[in-house]
Amino acid sequence: VNLAVDKSSAEPAYEQISRQIEELVRQGLLGPGARIPSIRQLAQRLGLANSTVAIAYDELAARRVIETRRGSGTFIAGEVDAPRKIDLSRGAGDGAAHDARPMNWEKYFFGSDFFGMPVGAKNQKLIRFTQASPDPALFPLERIKQVSASMLWTPQAFFFDRANPQGYQPLVEHIEKEMALAGVPMAAGQNDVILTGGFQRALSLLIDYLIRDGQKVAIEAPCFTQLLNLLIAKRVGYVPIPVDGQGMDTEYLAGVLARGEVQAVITIPTFHNPTGVCMSRERREHLLRLAEQYRVPVIEDDWGRLLRYEGEDDRPLKALDEGWYVIHIGSYSKCLLPGLRIGWITCPSAVAQQLVCAKLGADNSDSQFLQVLLHNFIEGSHFHRHIRHTVKQYRKRRDAMCDTLARCLPSGCRYRQPQGGFSVWLELPSHLRSMPLLKMARERGVDFFPAAFMMPDRYDTNALRLCFSRLKEEDIQRGTQVLCEVIADAMNNPGLLQGGFQQYEDLFI
Ligand SMILES: Cc1ncc(COP(=O)(O)O)c(C=O)c1O
Repeated sequence: VNLAVDKSSAEPAYEQISRQIEELVRQGLLGPGARIPSIRQLAQRLGLANSTVAIAYDELAARRVIETRRGSGTFIAGEVDAPRKIDLSRGAGDGAAHDARPMNWEKYFFGSDFFGMPVGAKNQKLIRFTQASPDPALFPLERIKQVSASMLWTPQAFFFDRANPQGYQPLVEHIEKEMALAGVPMAAGQNDVILTGGFQRALSLLIDYLIRDGQKVAIEAPCFTQLLNLLIAKRVGYVPIPVDGQGMDTEYLAGVLARGEVQAVITIPTFHNPTGVCMSRERREHLLRLAEQYRVPVIEDDWGRLLRYEGEDDRPLKALDEGWYVIHIGSYSKCLLPGLRIGWITCPSAVAQQLVCAKLGADNSDSQFLQVLLHNFIEGSHFHRHIRHTVKQYRKRRDAMCDTLARCLPSGCRYRQPQGGFSVWLELPSHLRSMPLLKMARERGVDFFPAAFMMPDRYDTNALRLCFSRLKEEDIQRGTQVLCEVIADAMNNPGLLQGGFQQYEDLFI
């Protein structure tokens, strides 16, 4: 190996070494398995400290260019296969061919497929009304960078320790105060907060704790797709309860509970995803009376209460819960950063210690570093500023969509202007289905999720979800106008829908 180091260069000596070795590998002059000098030999040859060459070798090893075999030396590494991404749209894998009698994995396969992301529109330039998530352009990344840099500047060992399974205590206390401000009794012995890895981990923990083999839960129809994925993954059955303009139909639920069909109820009372509806006060009270009558827990998904654009603030259902039936789940995913994976459970104190034990067993604890980061971000008043700023932006986007719908939507269609959240639920005349319409819409440059993607039974209906949170106002206006034209064409000439998607599975072709 012929290497040279220019000690007068601005490029550090260790970088010169690693760069030259990589160059030799790239040119094929050093192939897999070729031995290279030991750290000591190379340091001596180049007149450098051992530690300089050691840094170069560490970097090369981290990039898998070289590997050290104990007792035999340092070599150019063999080629590593690129990791393969698992295709979620296809369900089961194909299994490799081997001589041995292969394991029969099929006996474990899920009876029903997961809801993947509908494909087909990936590479087209479309106005996508599909994503109900915060706009990355509004993420407070500079602030997050500042807060995390100051944490790393004076790192404290506890950041990197395992967290208390209940979560980083100052953040727990902050959320407890926020819950008390939202009307939930939070004095000692009333309710407690437990931090989790987002809503999904919180729900997973609760389902494991509350539901036994063969038991079922009541869910809303339509509903949040990830809820269905979680229940499918846990092999927990569900009974869909229709949602109308007042929220979950509690009369319907009463029948289901009376027949003993479900052992828990899961609901999104505020800014229901996907319909955007807030459950009426009467329905909330009815739901709590039913919980008391049938002694079933109610899990409240309160993902978006802070994303309110107008109207009176709904208190969480948990604030009305005098009999300790409600377990509330909150999340920072939609109002701050989905990638943080921080959510929380607010539960009656009577069950809190049990749930902390369940959490300890299930995942030990979450990332304390991220919980401290979030707490420092909140303490610096950045969180409330961020909410004020983003809610203003999202309100304008909601208005851009609803104003265009008000102007352009053909009569016979309906939508409800949501008071918060990220999406509008649009209903076509009852004889039209949203899935066949999707193909026409994509051909004209607009993408959306048809109702089938959010229905527990996957059947298509005359509804579709339009998300506005990640798009600029002009794109929202243009896309909504085009969609209205597509709907008008389909209403005037239903034959146009014949070549469209007909069933849920078609969305994945
Ligand atoms: C209805 C609903 N609940 C909860 C969440 C938050 O989930 P998580 O905290 O797991 O990101 C979302 C976000 O996608 C949502 O749409």
